[in-house]
Amino acid sequence: MPAKSEPLDLTAVRVPRHVAIIMDGNGRWARKRNLPRVAGHRAGAENLRRIINACVEFGIKILTIYAFSTENWERPESEVRGLMKIFTRVLDQELSELHAQGVCLHHLGDLNGIEPELQQKVLDALELTKSNDRLTLNVAFNYGGRAEILHAVREMLGDGISPDELTEELFSSYLFTSGLPDPDLVIRTSGELRISNFLIWQAAYAEYYATPCYWPDFDREELYEALVAYSQRERRFGALPEDGD
Ligand code: IPE
Ligand code: IPE
Ligand code: MG
Repeated sequence: MPAKSEPLDLTAVRVPRHVAIIMDGNGRWARKRNLPRVAGHRAGAENLRRIINACVEFGIKILTIYAFSTENWERPESEVRGLMKIFTRVLDQELSELHAQGVCLHHLGDLNGIEPELQQKVLDALELTKSNDRLTLNVAFNYGGRAEILHAVREMLGDGISPDELTEELFSSYLFTSGLPDPDLVIRTSGELRISNFLIWQAAYAEYYATPCYWPDFDREELYEALVAYSQRERRFGALPEDGD
């Protein structure tokens, strides 16, 4: 267990129900230290434990993390292989603790194309944790927002949905996030200001927060800062605030 950290004033923040994180900057974190990129991915995977603990502490109910995009297959084969190894190891080493902690795992994305052994580990993890309800952890792995939308459309056509039946609610129910509320806050680490095909439907009205901090350095205090910023936002959803004239 990590050392007990400083208390943070949680009464000063509005805690979002659903936080989504684009965990970016592992490669640059490693480069800065003259380490291979894969060392950055390892440090990033370790950081996940800290952030999951912080989410539980802060009372966030749903955390969605972008772990591997449909476009990340374009990276060198050695890096992809290294990432798959890390995912396998995280499942092997962390699953029992995640389960004990009451984390319910969901997978967003396509398991086809993932090596069978890892596919099976993911399916076993989903089954093991399905009744937990302390924190829902959605892992976007081999995930792309466009691919998700096409997948939903294909399924709807297969189900014979007619144009008049189609509503936003029905469409949402065909996405990988079916049954879950949309993200309130999307955080991107590493200073990039783009969405990179992440939750492009679900985050239509999310608040965005970007920090220059690389993902392996994004800690509990950084997450708290993001919640402070979120608390200062006025969410309008296209309408006017109560006191608007
Ligand atoms: C995020 O870090 C992890 C994945 C995309 C799998 P990057 O690997 O994108 O790190 P940078 O952006 O090159 O620093
Ligand atoms: C987004 O980061 C994907 C993940 C964090 C898994 P990338 O590093 O792949 O995104 P781009 O290429 O900078 O847009
Ligand atoms: Mg990146």
